[in-house]
Amino acid sequence: MITKLKKLPKELKNILDVISSLAEPQGVRVYLVGGIVRDLLLGRTNLDLDIVVEGDAAALAQALAQRYSAKFTRHHAFGTATVFFDNHKIDFATARKEYYSRPGVLPAVEPSDLRDDLFRRDFTINAMAISLNKNDYAKLIDFYSGSRDLKQKLIRVLHNRSFSDDPTRILRAVRFEQRFSFKIEKKTLGLIKEAAAQEALRCVHAHRLRDELVLILKEPKPCRNVKRIGALTGFLFINKSLKVNKRIYGLLCRVEKTIGVYGKKFGGLRKVDAWLIYLIGLMIGLKREEIAKFVQEFDFRKGDRIRVLSAKDSLAGISCLDKNVKPRDLYRKLFPLSLETILFFYAYYSGKTIRRQIELFLGKLIHIRLKVKGSDLKALGFQPLVLYGKVLEGLLDAKIEKKLATKGEELKEAKHIFHKLLLKQPV
Ligand code: CTP
Repeated sequence: MITKLKKLPKELKNILDVISSLAEPQGVRVYLVGGIVRDLLLGRTNLDLDIVVEGDAAALAQALAQRYSAKFTRHHAFGTATVFFDNHKIDFATARKEYYSRPGVLPAVEPSDLRDDLFRRDFTINAMAISLNKNDYAKLIDFYSGSRDLKQKLIRVLHNRSFSDDPTRILRAVRFEQRFSFKIEKKTLGLIKEAAAQEALRCVHAHRLRDELVLILKEPKPCRNVKRIGALTGFLFINKSLKVNKRIYGLLCRVEKTIGVYGKKFGGLRKVDAWLIYLIGLMIGLKREEIAKFVQEFDFRKGDRIRVLSAKDSLAGISCLDKNVKPRDLYRKLFPLSLETILFFYAYYSGKTIRRQIELFLGKLIHIRLKVKGSDLKALGFQPLVLYGKVLEGLLDAKIEKKLATKGEELKEAKHIFHKLLLKQPV
């Protein structure tokens, strides 16, 4: 495995060497574990270093942090610690055994050795380690035949209780299966179906489900993941009436295309949260109160909640964006919405007319801002102040319609609007 380790960026490889040299005097054994080992064997880039220590993980992490003058945090309850470098972080955990009292809850843990630590993991392909110890540095440790399953492209659990211990692994199984184009091994698939029949995912805390759902939607091809979850277990854990039918699947595929179009045509605007557009697509058929309940219970961040709900709220209003709509009305409708919401509408309404209007907005109108501010009107001695809001509103419309370019042109138009408004004022 030494050649594989050498594939890591030099800086990370050096840190692993330092961890190795610090572990020996502390009398602990230390291993690189989990997803990074899998990805090194697959030749995929992964810079998330997870270290397991047979012994005190926090003490080793602290020594590493001191060596690099890096920030370090520890979580006493879990026997874990994290060291933060400029561009990445390294997680340390004391090797442990886990006991689940009931499905879906977090397990009780007790310190143990590497073999137990790997056995508590989700799939064989994620249960391999690379030794960082001096006597067998870089040796692959594979108690549960993970490398065989990698070669055979199989997702396989380590034991029959895996999904009842942690039902989120159902979602993880699909995620890895789709990401690597692997297959879920037959017995493992049977266990997933059993767990699904018992609605195991409904026992899991909403935060953990939310995190897994977001990870799925962040995969490069989320549609396939959603379809597979829909077929295997459904989305009961979100809402009992949420079904991935042809309509939703078609919509999600259009979201995928829309994100591609956005990247090519408007990518310069800002990077969008693509996962959120998929989430809107998944939820849009539910009632407003159901969506509100879901985003609340799953404790999405306020900005995410607003974006999802505003899509539901403005969906109908967008349907009337025909070719006769004035640019200023298009601007008023779309400007208050997030890019994610607007792109969702692009995917939802596949007709040419609405798409052209959205393209006009994203390509041109979105950049329009007034150069004139209230303070400019004040400097010109405009009175009364209560009219300023209306002047600026009218000015924005005029700027869009008449394509005013300079501040001088705006000021001239502002004066004109102001005088018209004054005339309308009751004496
Ligand atoms: N793990 C697990 N059960 C879970 C979550 C994680 O057994 N429900 C274990 C797996 O061994 C996994 C490791 O913890 O490899 C790290 O978890 P995470 O970072 O979530 O997974 P990765 O395998 O690194 O996946 P990704 O490539 O998506 O980051």
